Amino acid sequence: MSNIILIGFMGCGKTSVGKKLASRNKLLFVDTDALIENNSNQSIKDIFSHKGEAYFRELETATIKSLLDELDNAVISVGGGLPIKTGNGELLGQLGTVVFLDASLETINKRLKNDKDRPLFSNKDNKVEELYHFRKPIYTQYAHMIIQVDNMNIDDIIDDIEKQLIIKSRER
Ligand code: S3P
Repeated sequence: MSNIILIGFMGCGKTSVGKKLASRNKLLFVDTDALIENNSNQSIKDIFSHKGEAYFRELETATIKSLLDELDNAVISVGGGLPIKTGNGELLGQLGTVVFLDASLETINKRLKNDKDRPLFSNKDNKVEELYHFRKPIYTQYAHMIIQVDNMNIDDIIDDIEKQLIIKSRER
């Protein structure tokens, strides 16, 4: 399949990059968090607090499976924890080219310091740091392409993705 899937830690820019990458290339843009919120008529924050994280993770897996049947030529941004659950990385690989937007913890902390919508992001303890270091090798494992995004603006990131996609399509 020829979708482009953006993965990476909370705050790395998946949604903003994905939206612009899609509009620049006249592709459909899909965000798994937005899909889950629309389908369940609840915010992610409410799903976490009423039904718990494990339930949210089931919704994420079901969402990715449904996209496998439905989508081609789309840009898909997935929640930061989606690639972590066993089996999901492989599903993403079946869906298309997986692009890891790699931001440093410093960049992420700067961007999300006032965020109130992400249940797993809290500056109060070391949890975010632990999560970051646990997840990074998993993102790397499933990525076909890794883009360093620190100090890069959205257009530079998209230029980089497009350049690497062209190189990859020539290699095939
Ligand atoms: C999560 C990331 C969030 C959202 C949820 C859980 C995570 O998406 O799916 O709050 O586990 O990293 P973003 O990566 O778009 O912030």
